[in-house]
Amino acid sequence: MLQTPLVSWPPRRSRELVTVRSRVAAGLVRSAAVVMAVVMAPVLAAGAADPAVVAKSGSGEIVACASCHGAQGEGMASFPRLAGLNAEYLRRQMATIADGTRKNAVMEPIVIALGEKGMREMADYYASLPPPKGTDEVPGAESPGATLALRGDWDRNIPACVSCHGPGGVGVGDSFPALAGQLPNYIVSQLKAWKDGTRKNDPLELMRHLSAKLSEAEMRDVASWFAGQRSMRAPPARESSP
Ligand code: HEC
Ligand code: HEC
Repeated sequence: MLQTPLVSWPPRRSRELVTVRSRVAAGLVRSAAVVMAVVMAPVLAAGAADPAVVAKSGSGEIVACASCHGAQGEGMASFPRLAGLNAEYLRRQMATIADGTRKNAVMEPIVIALGEKGMREMADYYASLPPPKGTDEVPGAESPGATLALRGDWDRNIPACVSCHGPGGVGVGDSFPALAGQLPNYIVSQLKAWKDGTRKNDPLELMRHLSAKLSEAEMRDVASWFAGQRSMRAPPARESSP
């Protein structure tokens, strides 16, 4: 989305990282405004397709989202969790699948059939669903995945994942998606997609540079650590609301 790098990569100090973060956020806010200014053709025809119905049953050539993303958008196998992710992030991902900067043969015909309006409605719908609670098997604090997620590896210029993705991977705004409770196979598939160049939609190529440095074993370790984290909006196990 941003055409010229605003800062050098990799950021060497955490202050520089904060600058990267805020500039990415500012850039994306600007580009989102441009996109919204464009008049979009309604594709989910007015009144014809309720997002909840499309999600469960599909509409015309659009296959039910639930058949891959789970009944509540919780994800399954390599199909990502969508429930409770940021709406603008989800919308942008579908838009970049439509324009080919993120290549995915399965999602591409679906997002094209949805159109701009449908993508926005589906994004709002999934963002409003409660996020899944994450798996119960959380790798320990000293596992290699936890180390990479929480501390990174500065000798190799790998920043801690949580420095961008928020504490425990809860996500930050519409630029840095939640990784907590995300499907581990999906996290690995995206890291590989950046490494292979089939996903090119990340601002400043932040994720491409990072993924290129990770081994497959590291990808798996860090993915299972995040999969075990609870999402911020998920209720903690033992505290039920009054
Ligand atoms: C046949 C299976 C299938 C169906 C049906 C499907 N998806 Fe997907 N979806 C996928 C796959 C696979 C990916 C991961 C793409 C990749 O690896 O880049 C994905 C990714 C996504 C993403 C990106 C998530 C992220 O975190 O970046 C969004 C948003 C999404 N799908 C929305 C939808 C919506 C909305 C529907 C229904 C209108 C839908 N999908 C139907 C398989 C499916
Ligand atoms: C310098 C900031 C930064 C750091 C550090 C970082 N990420 Fe990211 N990450 C991003 C941004 C920005 C995106 C969104 C890319 C986009 O808009 O498509 C992202 C997206 C992702 C996604 C895609 C999620 C989805 O739902 O599609 C995964 C998986 C991911 N990062 C994993 C990691 C892991 C694992 C680490 C640590 C090894 C990490 N990231 C460290 C900035 C960062």
